[in-house]
Amino acid sequence: MTSCVALIVAAGSGERFGGDRPKQYQDLGGRAVLHHTVGAFLRHAYVDAVQVVIQPGHRELYDAAIAGLDLPEPVAGGATRQESVRLGLERLAARDPVPDFVLIHDAARPLVSGATVQAVRDRLDEVPAAIAAVPVTDTLKRGTGGLVSGTVERAGLWRAQTPQGFRFGEILRAHRELAGAELTDDAAVAERAGLDVALVEGNVENLKVTNRDDLAQAAMLMNASIPSP
Ligand code: CTP
Ligand code: MG
Repeated sequence: MTSCVALIVAAGSGERFGGDRPKQYQDLGGRAVLHHTVGAFLRHAYVDAVQVVIQPGHRELYDAAIAGLDLPEPVAGGATRQESVRLGLERLAARDPVPDFVLIHDAARPLVSGATVQAVRDRLDEVPAAIAAVPVTDTLKRGTGGLVSGTVERAGLWRAQTPQGFRFGEILRAHRELAGAELTDDAAVAERAGLDVALVEGNVENLKVTNRDDLAQAAMLMNASIPSP
């Protein structure tokens, strides 16, 4: 039997979202965004444990958000997402036994589907790294000073999402080697470390809540309502 742990990074400040509290603690249909995100992994048959990374200053928001869920002590995150992930991986490395696989996921993506989690985990039977992603469907333009300066060839382009799954030992080593490299996702860390990263088609609704419109869209997709700002 192999083991698989979900690592949820929730230590951001949500600067682009703004508002009274970080976006992972905003209400979405009666529960915090983070509650939905954690729940999706906790109830998944492929996931043995869920570890969350938070900002210590958000402890009260965190406790309220995850009330009723059975989780280990959260890990204190860092100044960048990459740093928060590395600190989370270090905590998982101290578990006994160490997990075989880790699925790293943004707290700000509450609409991840069970099928996406399963597809990413399944791919790890064959490759060291696999990420949820969706093919680009819009035509992409390069813009300079408000004018179109070119059209980007769309074929072969994907939008990377999370979860991003890895063999645990390999992503831990990669994150240690590349600490401070300022990469925006874990696949980039894996790529730099020379790992093959597989693309797994995820669910389009698995959007990242970045601003208020995203939260409204997530609520619509959940058929839920959000309080007005
Ligand atoms: N994150 C983290 N630690 C950080 C920065 C980000 O754990 N130092 C997490 C966020 O909480 C989020 C995920 O990484 O779940 C994706 O990051 P992003 O969408 O950029 O969230 P924020 O950094 O919070 O938002 P912003 O960039 O607008 O400030
Ligand atoms: Mg950010």
